[in-house]
Order: sequence, then structure tokens, then C-alpha cells
Amino acid sequence: MGDRPRPERAAADGPGYRTALVTGASRGIGREITRSLVREGLEVWGLARPSADLDALVAETGCHVLAVDLLDAGAVGRAIAGLRIDVLVNNAGMIPSVRPFVDCPVSELESMIDLNLRAPLTVTRALLPGMIERGCGHIFAITSLFGPYAGADVAVYGATKAALRSFCACLRAEIAGSGVRVTEIAPGRTRTGIYLDAFGGDAEALEQRLFRDRRALHPEDVAQALIAALRLPPRADASIIELAPTEQAAGGLAFAGPPAGTDE
Ligand SMILES: NC(=O)c1ccc[n+]([C@@H]2O[C@H](COP(=O)([O-])OP(=O)(O)OC[C@H]3O[C@@H](n4cnc5c(N)ncnc54)[C@H](OP(=O)(O)O)[C@@H]3O)[C@@H](O)[C@H]2O)c1
Repeated sequence: MGDRPRPERAAADGPGYRTALVTGASRGIGREITRSLVREGLEVWGLARPSADLDALVAETGCHVLAVDLLDAGAVGRAIAGLRIDVLVNNAGMIPSVRPFVDCPVSELESMIDLNLRAPLTVTRALLPGMIERGCGHIFAITSLFGPYAGADVAVYGATKAALRSFCACLRAEIAGSGVRVTEIAPGRTRTGIYLDAFGGDAEALEQRLFRDRRALHPEDVAQALIAALRLPPRADASIIELAPTEQAAGGLAFAGPPAGTDE
């Protein structure tokens, strides 16, 4: 930011955020974040594709709704044009299948890049100038432990999340001193329906495979971490929060192939 003048804001009165936009607000982590932000007293815009879930969230919380498809860049641009947003939560994401990269259809690869990476970048690009101008803003990105830590069968998903981590880090470097904070939250396994498509819509199979014997985070836990970062005094920015279930260690080491002693 070089010699950019410091924004005129009272240091003692908190960040002074008034408005927020949450992508992927209709279900899972985004819904809990929306609820929490409304409880914090912010005026919140919840973005997702039109659905009964989105309608129910509006009825429950009184948030505004942006019923658009993030894969439709033009529609998103029109929906958010002119909004004055202090807190942007780039949350929407997908993992439509869990399978080796060589079996991943190109169309699936493209839509994952589009939703998990292009969309948060373009929404941020649209809303950040206003934040910088006002000297007040907070950008969150919900990434994943599959960004920094390797996992088999999630190569594209992991790549999008790793790229988003890099974007957040570079952006912080660019806008340091502007009064705009950037926080990446990288959750581990969280009890939502994000893997449902990957399990062919079979909720019981999903429950058996991911949740039955393993304690997962609840979406509320991720929302709580976000609110904690939001409530920090303006001088402090939680740059990266990695949030895992207590029993989940990120990463891992698995060998497949010939046993020891056959290396000749
Ligand atoms: N659950 C986990 O284990 C886990 C772990 C680490 C990170 N994460 C990350 O956390 C974030 C939220 O995941 P979640 O588990 O809460 O997922 P989820 O329950 O499947 O919710 C995804 C949200 O994204 C919205 N969305 C999906 N496609 C969209 C599109 N094309 N346009 C607009 N909105 C769209 C969905 O709304 P509609 O489908 O109604 O449009 C929904 O509100 C994601 O970025 C995910 O990668 C999740």
C-alpha cells in the first residue's frame, strides 16, 4: 500500500462493520455464518441459487436474499452492483465427487474451479474497492485443510482451495494498511451435505463413511471461529484459522506399492 494515508476511523470503537454478504448462505456452514452475523447485528445479504432453503433462511433471520447462480458471472455482477458491503464471506464451494484425478470429468473440473476459485475472486474484485475507499472491511474465505495438506481423490478441490489460500495471502500483502482485513478459515471435516453428490445422493452412505465413527465439526463451530476473528480489535487480523475436529490430524502418510526390502 506504500504511502496510502491512514483511514480516519476511531481506533477504540471496533471495526464498525454494518453490512455483510455471505455466499452459499442457504445450507451448511454458510447458513450458520449468516445466522451468526445477523445475531451480531449486521445487515446481511445471503447469496445462493433460488431454493426453499434460502426462503426459509430469509423467513428465519430477516436477511436480504441474492438468489443467483455463482457460475453465472454476469448475473452475480448485476446482483451485487452498488452494494456497500463491509464483511464479505466467500463461502460457497463444491466437491461433486471424490475420485482419482484421471477419472475426473473435465466439466466437473471446470465447474469446481469456477465456483471454488473464480467466483470468490470476482466477488471480491467487485466489493473490495468500496472497502478500501471507506477504510473498513473484512474479507473471509472458507477454504479447506485439503488446500495446504494433501489428500487422495480430491486433487482439483485441493488445488482450488490452495489457490484461494495464496490469493488471501497476496491480497493481505497488497492492501495492508488500508483498514481492510483478510481472514482465511480452513475447516476440516464438517457435518454438512457437501459430500452428498459425491455419494450419489445417498445420505446413509455418507453418514456411514464420513460421520458415523468420527466426530466432525459442526457448521456452528466454523461460524463461531469467524465471529471470533470479526470481533478482534481493528489492529488485529487473524490471517489463517485452521479448524479441525479434535480427533482429525491434517495430512497423513499412506504407502501403496511394494513392501520394504524390494527396492532393488
Ligand atoms: N463440509 C466440510 O467438510 C467442509 C470442510 C472444509 C471446507 N469446506 C468448505 O466450506 C464451504 C461451505 O461448505 P458446506 O459444507 O457448508 O457445503 P454445503 O452444505 O454443500 O453448502 C454449499 C452452499 O454453497 C451454495 N452453492 C453451491 N453451488 C452454488 C452456485 N452455483 N451458486 C450459488 N451458490 C451455490 C449452496 O447453495 P445452493 O446449492 O442452494 O445454491 C449452499 O448454500 C465450501 O467452500 C467448502 O469447500 C467444507
